[in-house]
Amino acid sequence: MEILVLGSGAREHALAWRLARDEGVRRVRIAPGNGGTAAVAESVADLDVLNPAAVARHAGRERYDLVVIGPEAPLAAGVADALATAGVPVFGPRRAAARLESSKVYAKEQLRRANVPTAVAATFDEPEAAVAWVRAQSRPPVVKADWLAAGKGVVVPETLEEAEGAVRALLIGAVPGARLLLEERLEGREVSVFALVSDAAVLPLGAACDYKRLGDGDTGPNTGGMGAYTPVPWFGPSEVERTVAEVFEPIAWRMARDGAPYRGILYAGLMLTDDGPRVLEFNARFGDPEAQVLLPMLDGELSAALLGVATGDRGQMEGSLALRGGAAVGVVLASEGYPDAAATDRSLLGAEPSGPADAGPVLCFHAATRVTPGGYASSGGRVVTMVGLGRDLAEARQRAYAGVAGAQLDGSQLRSDIAERELGE
Ligand code: AMP
Ligand code: GLY
Repeated sequence: MEILVLGSGAREHALAWRLARDEGVRRVRIAPGNGGTAAVAESVADLDVLNPAAVARHAGRERYDLVVIGPEAPLAAGVADALATAGVPVFGPRRAAARLESSKVYAKEQLRRANVPTAVAATFDEPEAAVAWVRAQSRPPVVKADWLAAGKGVVVPETLEEAEGAVRALLIGAVPGARLLLEERLEGREVSVFALVSDAAVLPLGAACDYKRLGDGDTGPNTGGMGAYTPVPWFGPSEVERTVAEVFEPIAWRMARDGAPYRGILYAGLMLTDDGPRVLEFNARFGDPEAQVLLPMLDGELSAALLGVATGDRGQMEGSLALRGGAAVGVVLASEGYPDAAATDRSLLGAEPSGPADAGPVLCFHAATRVTPGGYASSGGRVVTMVGLGRDLAEARQRAYAGVAGAQLDGSQLRSDIAERELGE
């Protein structure tokens, strides 16, 4: 197979790396990729991955057997639709199905219609009505923008005044017709569950936990994700199976029934409350950094499974992969100043990008890097994800931190507590 991967993060490096390891894959290309992805894939220069017609034209000309869409933006732009129309097999949902991520109001409607447990929420498109509703509450609700707000669309306020401020800040300056969700605040542990979905068929890939705050102990600002681990000791195979039956299958069925069949990876963010699991969000893509820990745990032919998803071949999706045992821990090395103002153009040493022959036990996936005459330099916030593989989380964690200790980037930031809470369990 010849495969094109779209995207430029460590998630896409991990996808291209894992695909390049398949026996049935002759060549992987990536658009645009980053400084490290040349180790696994040839970069396609000058392709605008947010332009559906341009991507479809390029894919038709190059006759790829499969296009794999990594990030959310091309999905929301309709790149999968254009590829499907051009007859190119594409892994990633069409725009209508990707609304499970791009519209929180739509996701909430589909959850209700599929009878999947989720937080109770009300929808508003007018600041005064939303503020009046907030004032009538006894506890501050969670405030969620119904548009892709670049990771700034969810506010979890501590007081009603703060909730009111968040409503105003989000709705004032928003485009006309923009909507907000005000949602009951839930308490519990959070876990993310991932499954391949092809119309009504679901194949679970496992569960992972990520760390969104910048600092140890979940302090500091929110980030794109500073680390992740899998498996989750308190959310094992039987809990994943239960999530398939109670969340993924009803939603997949609902989407197919509503004329928006889902083909891609579906990521469910759950909160485990005293009353049972509740879905907080869906994403229409792999998580980043969750992909970096989940993908090394898959045995078999990933390319065949993703092609099976793309073509609606349930047997091929289900028959191509097996979960290997063991554990993976990923630690993100971020630039000084991230997430507000990341320093760039600093030299990066000791972080050779993983190539197709690299099976661990330490893997290095590049994100914001570029090639320099002497090696690599940083070019943004999250620079690399270092992944340790091991028999258990303790061993995987020790290897991830040994790997990241060997990397040098002036002023870099990292969390030292990834997976720490699971030690000794
Ligand atoms: P979301 O993008 O919807 O997952 O929200 C981002 C984060 O906000 C989640 O990972 C939770 O930590 C938090 N959050 C979202 N919804 C709720 C809720 N209903 N109750 C408590 N925390 C929430
Ligand atoms: N790590 C969270 C995300 O990818 O959305």
